[in-house]
Amino acid sequence: MSGTSLAGLRVVVSAGPTYEDIDPVRFIGNRSSGKMGFAVAAAAAQRGAQVVLVAGPVSLATPAGVTRIDVRSAAQMHAAVFAQLPADIYIGAAAVADYSPREVATGKIKKQAGRDTLTLELVRTPDILAEVAAHASRPRLVVGFAAETDNVEGYARGKLANKRLDLIAANRVGIAGSGFESDDNALTVYWSDGARALGPAPKTQLADELFDLVVERLAGAAGKERHP
Ligand code: C5P
Repeated sequence: MSGTSLAGLRVVVSAGPTYEDIDPVRFIGNRSSGKMGFAVAAAAAQRGAQVVLVAGPVSLATPAGVTRIDVRSAAQMHAAVFAQLPADIYIGAAAVADYSPREVATGKIKKQAGRDTLTLELVRTPDILAEVAAHASRPRLVVGFAAETDNVEGYARGKLANKRLDLIAANRVGIAGSGFESDDNALTVYWSDGARALGPAPKTQLADELFDLVVERLAGAAGKERHP
């Protein structure tokens, strides 16, 4: 485990899914265990950072030394993240629902006799990561995650540019025993003029290796500022 310190830095991490309620007993959610994001928060705390973890609904223990804020919906996650800015580093590892029901029914939606279809109207949720990256008090480093099934590099680089990120960690698909709900994963991390493959390895190890890159990128940015 690398010892490069993050002491004195404030790190905000989002993790887990969001649940968008349809009625009091149903929701639209994402398949996310939260393990990668929790491992990222734990790795930052181990390096001495002050870490706030904004967590969607998951059943995971809070990592040592991490301040946890539990949320349910994308709107709540958005509000909780922005309440934690300014920060030095933001890592968006949450699987945020892209759409949310326009209205939440106050009572359980019942099956309608003689009707085979039910239409729900969905509205886009805020893109928390893109908004953080565009914010007036933008963290020095903004990192996203991407779960893609095909054209991984193309989509990941597209998100890196469109969301104005410094780094994006894309899941490498098709590797047995990695990805959703697994303890292991394989990532390729992209930045404007480079890429690095991490793993397959336990998510705890990948999270630590991600911070090696974060520290390198921070040092590079500081170097550029000193020597324009
Ligand atoms: O666009 P896509 O959902 O694939 O982007 C993934 C990245 O964007 C992740 O880091 C995720 O946490 C973030 N995101 C977000 N808010 C959304 C959608 C995605 O912060 N509404």
